[in-house]
Amino acid sequence: MSTTVITNIGELVTNDPARDGLLGLLADAAVVVDGTRIAWVGPAVNAPDADVQVDAGGRAVIPGFVDSHSHLVFAGDRSAEFEARMTGEPYTAGGIRTTVARTRAASDEQLTSHVGRLVAEMRAQGTTTLEIKSGYGLSVHDEARSLAVARQFTEETTFLGAHVVPADTTPEAYVDLVTGPMLAAAVPHARWIDVFCEDGAFDVDQARTILAAGADRGLRGRLHANQLTYGGGVRLACELGLAAVDHCTFLSEDDVAALASSGTIATLLPGVEFSTRQPYPDARGLLDAGVRVALASDCNPGSCFTSSMALCVALAVREMRMSPAEALHAATATGAAALDRDDVGVLAPGKAADLVLLDAPSYVHLAYRPGVPLVAGVWQAGRPTLG
Ligand code: NIG
Ligand code: FE
Repeated sequence: MSTTVITNIGELVTNDPARDGLLGLLADAAVVVDGTRIAWVGPAVNAPDADVQVDAGGRAVIPGFVDSHSHLVFAGDRSAEFEARMTGEPYTAGGIRTTVARTRAASDEQLTSHVGRLVAEMRAQGTTTLEIKSGYGLSVHDEARSLAVARQFTEETTFLGAHVVPADTTPEAYVDLVTGPMLAAAVPHARWIDVFCEDGAFDVDQARTILAAGADRGLRGRLHANQLTYGGGVRLACELGLAAVDHCTFLSEDDVAALASSGTIATLLPGVEFSTRQPYPDARGLLDAGVRVALASDCNPGSCFTSSMALCVALAVREMRMSPAEALHAATATGAAALDRDDVGVLAPGKAADLVLLDAPSYVHLAYRPGVPLVAGVWQAGRPTLG
């Protein structure tokens, strides 16, 4: 396998805890890639020879974004719902059912090609690791095939049969289906299990039952909670020691205390608040309380149809008072931790060679230049996929 040295990097974000500061910054740096992994990181003047040389031209290199929350397996369009929202309609969980009808009607090929387009869109914007959920099938067949489609693009697949209760059944019967035959059909294709724990979706007791059934079948838990209202979802996630609880928009003091003492990561999804005109989560309060915060896109057709992690970073800085360094760390290293991964999100020897070259002198430009396409090159597992 050939080696590549990326040299003349003006500013390298390593996220390596062995280096200084939150981002482990290195000026005038080089990175050597051997096959799919990073072999060496250090000052450019000391860089070893390699088969291929890439000149970063003094620009910044960051770890690829880790997007730990997305719902890419769907069909149809809900731009009319977005438009209505922008003229005063509230966001509700009920819109999910519109997408369910369209997704059930789509062929496997249509779903696969749609997910492929969205994954390519994400990669072009610097996302090198992503999680994909099911949740728009809501039948045994459609959840299993949604996960099988997602699995073609990532190992980080999440069974979200418990997204909403479909129109033609009762909550009790549906929880039995999700924890029984639907779970059995999902297990071969999924690593995670998730529940939308919210008014209009599933309550805390139902979420507990569903997560326990998943754990019995070897699926790790994560949760959508406290997106639209206050409630017990975040505390349930902390009590169960889940890797991450996502949204965290409406939090009580007890919720923040539970997050701080549990180690469960709060994954904030500011694209959702941007696209639903809700108040943003209190990222500053969470960080100051010692909570680990990740950022993810939540890319989905209803509450937030962006695939841009750079937008999430910019929103986190501008609207949630995270520093640019905190936001980038949350979108890379802590996103990896939210997926229980330590092989991505950090640029150090032995880690995955997932790197993004920015057309900018500093990572700060991700927030300083919102909406500007700054990604000049992407390496995924050592393979240049752009630029
Ligand atoms: O994470 N909250 C639940 N699920 C998605 C939205 C789904 C939809 O509206 O289609 C979310 O925001
Ligand atoms: Fe979501």
